[in-house]
Amino acid sequence: MIVRVYPGREAASRAGAENFVRCLKETLGRKDRFSIAVSGGSTPRRLYEILGTEFINEVEWERVNIYWGDERYVPHQDRKSNFRMFHEALLDQVSIPIGNVHPMPTHRRDPQAAADDYESLMRSHLAGSGRGHPDLPELDIVLLGMGADGHVASLFPGSKALQETRRWVVATEAPEEPRQRLSLTLSVINNAADVCLLVTGGEKAEAVERAIAGPPDALECPASAVRPTHGQVVWWLDQAAASRLEDANTRIEHPEDSTGGR
Ligand code: 6PG
Repeated sequence: MIVRVYPGREAASRAGAENFVRCLKETLGRKDRFSIAVSGGSTPRRLYEILGTEFINEVEWERVNIYWGDERYVPHQDRKSNFRMFHEALLDQVSIPIGNVHPMPTHRRDPQAAADDYESLMRSHLAGSGRGHPDLPELDIVLLGMGADGHVASLFPGSKALQETRRWVVATEAPEEPRQRLSLTLSVINNAADVCLLVTGGEKAEAVERAIAGPPDALECPASAVRPTHGQVVWWLDQAAASRLEDANTRIEHPEDSTGGR
């Protein structure tokens, strides 16, 4: 586990964008395609904006497959849609072949049927895609945010989806609107080559401490169960979100205090 702390959201977002480009170039040096599951919510928007502006020419977008880690079960043009946010922040800026962009479907009456459709699509692209469990996909990056309650993707504390080991994609319920969600499961997230969490804001400090310094407990704090089976987990935090870590016996890095950084 790597924990890097930055002065604020802008620096943390930039670190995330730099890491995306670095991972992409390393991966495309040995594989034909790069697959990422992107996060929704508000935090990653700035990271996507940086990718779509400053780093736009650094990325061979035609070799990138974009999946979603989760989605609110609303139309893609809805203001709450994670796909809409990503589209506004990045897709409007870069020309990615439409066949490379795989939003979660939200049009079916039955959300679990939509989840099954998405799983079928992922299986057609990613089955047997790499290291780890033979029946799980190896995404190159899973980018996550985290809620103040410790949820990641749309896996919320107490959800039975946290114990799902067979499905790749499930329909879940959120405690706030839009309640209906679709989400990758922890099994898929933990089978990734790199799991990257971008978390900022003091309201998340307690969950950050719990997730990083506490024992894994998926039902109580889903983020604490983000423990890749063979990949790497990296946290990019701002100082506010990391404020309770300073006393924990966690190795923390402050890249802004030194050259380079992940
Ligand atoms: C979503 C996200 C969710 C998000 C957290 C943090 O659909 O909302 O995927 O997991 O990462 O809720 O959200 P903020 O970045 O808005 O704080």
